[in-house]
Amino acid sequence: MDQLEQLVSQAVADFETVSDANSLEQAKARYLGKSGSLTELLKGLGKMEPEARKEAGAAINRAKATVEQALEARREALRKSQLAEQLAAEALDVTLPGRGNGNGGLHPVTRVLERIEMLFAGIGFSVADGPEIESDWYNFTALNTPENHPARSMHDTFYLEDAPGVLLRTHTSPVQVRYMHQHVERYKDAATMPDIRIIAPGRVYRVDYDATHSPMFHQIEGLWVGERVSFADLKGVIADFLRRFFETDALQVRFRPSFFPFTEPSAEIDFAFMSGPNKGKWLEIAGCGVVHPKVLRHGGIDPERYTGFAFGMGLDRLTMLRYGVDDLRLFFENDLRFLSQFR
Ligand code: FA5
Ligand code: MG
Repeated sequence: MDQLEQLVSQAVADFETVSDANSLEQAKARYLGKSGSLTELLKGLGKMEPEARKEAGAAINRAKATVEQALEARREALRKSQLAEQLAAEALDVTLPGRGNGNGGLHPVTRVLERIEMLFAGIGFSVADGPEIESDWYNFTALNTPENHPARSMHDTFYLEDAPGVLLRTHTSPVQVRYMHQHVERYKDAATMPDIRIIAPGRVYRVDYDATHSPMFHQIEGLWVGERVSFADLKGVIADFLRRFFETDALQVRFRPSFFPFTEPSAEIDFAFMSGPNKGKWLEIAGCGVVHPKVLRHGGIDPERYTGFAFGMGLDRLTMLRYGVDDLRLFFENDLRFLSQFR
């Protein structure tokens, strides 16, 4: 039975040399398969004498059991090493410090807008809005700027192709007449119309591009209409707002005569800090004036009875001043190295 022992050690050695489950099953077939060498030996028993057959059968079956044990042991070993390999490949270093949650933050322009809304809410102004894609009529005509009026060329307007009479609003002033319509409609059955007191922040568009001009920027319109609203009220509201916005009384505010078709008289608002790096430098932040009677009439309001003032501030300019940023375009480039400083 030397042959049998040799076969067993051959099989065990074969099993040891394979390195994966597939080759192991192939090696198994060579010994225990349908025509494997041990199977063939078992088949050969039939031709033996009964005495010899008994002995040989027992020996072959022992050999077969040994080979099967060796096979099972090798299967188990391969399973383990494969698992170990997989674990090593998918290893996580649980001792590494975590990445944490990135803290998002509001855009500086949004932060300043929320602050301005809060300050105006404190003196009774609510927030209104209007569409960015606006009609020529609301953007210009209703604001006493009829077609061919020279003041239209003060704004480099984006018009929409194939949509005559439609444009990207060049300022937030169209909200004035839009809001007047809503207000008049709401109180048409009332004995007296309450004052209109709103701010209307939003995006506006002009063909403009340099360090202090962006093709898309933000304005905040202000409008107060009532029975005895005057230019003096405008000055008071603006001066008070600027002091609270910049958190200092060391401010000078001046109203420089100017022109807008929709206000009369009109002014531009400049202010200067009386200390700090911008000390003594005048900075323009808004246009303003007493609402023109024609504008009130376009809004359905009787200019004999009501008067009002309006202003349009540059929100991005106010943000630049509040945070000491000297190029407006930084706000719109979405560079996180810049934006994350305002968290
Ligand atoms: C107007 O747009 C008027 N509608 C303002 C107004 C409203 C006057 C109500 C009277 C009554 P102006 O074109 O000057 O005015 O713009 C107002 C402010 O917007 C400017 O003072 C400036 O702060 C800001 N601004 C204007 N153009 C740009 C721009 N391209 N980029 C950033 N800010 C701008
Ligand atoms: Mg201006």
